[in-house]
Amino acid sequence: MSGETDTKDWAARARRVIPGGVNSGQRLVPGLEDLVVVSTAGATFTDSRGRTFTDYHSAFGPPLLGHNDPDVDAAMSREQARNDLMGIGVTPVEIELAERIVEHVPSVERVLLTATGSEATFHAIRLARTATGRNSIIKFQGCYHGWHDSVAMNVISAPERVGKKDPLSAGILPEVLEATIVLPFNDSEAVERELETRPGGVAAIILEPIPHNVGALLPKPGYLERLRELSTKHGTVLIFDEVITGFRHGLGGFQSVAGVTPDLTTFGKAVANGYPMGGVGGRADLMDLFSSSPGQPVLFAGTYNGHPGMVAAALATIAKMEREPVHEHIFRLGERARSGLRDLYRRLGIPVVVTGFGSVFVTYFMEGPVERYDDLLRNDKAMYVGYRRNQLEHGVFELPMNLKRSHISYAHKDADIDALLEATETAVLKTRDELVAARRNSV
Ligand SMILES: Cc1ncc(COP(=O)(O)O)c(C=O)c1O
Repeated sequence: MSGETDTKDWAARARRVIPGGVNSGQRLVPGLEDLVVVSTAGATFTDSRGRTFTDYHSAFGPPLLGHNDPDVDAAMSREQARNDLMGIGVTPVEIELAERIVEHVPSVERVLLTATGSEATFHAIRLARTATGRNSIIKFQGCYHGWHDSVAMNVISAPERVGKKDPLSAGILPEVLEATIVLPFNDSEAVERELETRPGGVAAIILEPIPHNVGALLPKPGYLERLRELSTKHGTVLIFDEVITGFRHGLGGFQSVAGVTPDLTTFGKAVANGYPMGGVGGRADLMDLFSSSPGQPVLFAGTYNGHPGMVAAALATIAKMEREPVHEHIFRLGERARSGLRDLYRRLGIPVVVTGFGSVFVTYFMEGPVERYDDLLRNDKAMYVGYRRNQLEHGVFELPMNLKRSHISYAHKDADIDALLEATETAVLKTRDELVAARRNSV
């Protein structure tokens, strides 16, 4: 299969039988409607037209070791050949994985596995409501925690929707929307006010410790500590959603970097390097309320939970992170990318904020500060999306959508960062010219 015609055929076939032609709402990107991915390898992917790109999108984060990591794939295949899904009892690999997670993640005394991150945050919130006997939860503008009703709101909101309920989907009961309080990130006083005044109290505060779903909003010094203090004082369950930051920013997640221990942690994505896996873990007294303990009230179930092949993939991923300088490598390349980009934009005289953490980098086309979502409304979206579109001509793939972050994996090399910087410079200059011309023509 090769050539333009085949590409058009595949995409057209997809659109006939799959709504929109893709299986997740964020996969259809303007200008890339005909993109059909036929293979992945290490730091790259190849499309049906035979174009190979260096991948900084990384499926929104999972393949931390790179695509098709041979150690992970071999472990998965070995386990899968030996032990298929049975749906009864437990398997040795599940026990070993739980032990590794408990050992590494500070907040986790007990852990339960799911297939996705959304299931993990769903269960964490239900558990918090049961443990506290309260209904309301706090989430922050700019954080994403999955597709379910209690949290599917206020991520990349239009300016006029900030400060109001901004559901990501139709079909959510108004009562559910009502029970979720949306506050600005990095404003602990807003949280304090809410905890002191909300009738009936607040069951949980859920947050991405670094809101990566809008790029990277770094927590101000003392912010996470203050959320910890306030949660403890008010008997509110503090949930760190580490679906992106977990394992990527350290084996112990961002909580081990920040030195702040939540009551519950959710994870997913990088833990199994791309195989479907998520989980919820935390304080034993809370976790023991799940119905996996006899007679306990919080239903926990899932046909695919703890699937042996996926669990083996997670074990192999963690083993490789323990054995090899994975974080050292991705953090070093991340720093090279961020500092190289800062130099580049300084040289070009383009005002930007280059930020991120570890292996994640992002460039906002605006002046700082960047502390909360409202700040990002100043970002020049046309530049942000435009340079990413132009990078495609140079074989570099950063997702061409506003406020999306870029990821570096263990399979990326120094030469990839050199090529990234070169492609970015050319693409940014071209975009600037295109925008100047477009603005001139519109006057
Ligand atoms: C921070 C965070 N939490 C939860 C989720 C939901 O995970 P999943 O897509 O595996 O359901 C995501 C997905 O992007 C996420 O970024």
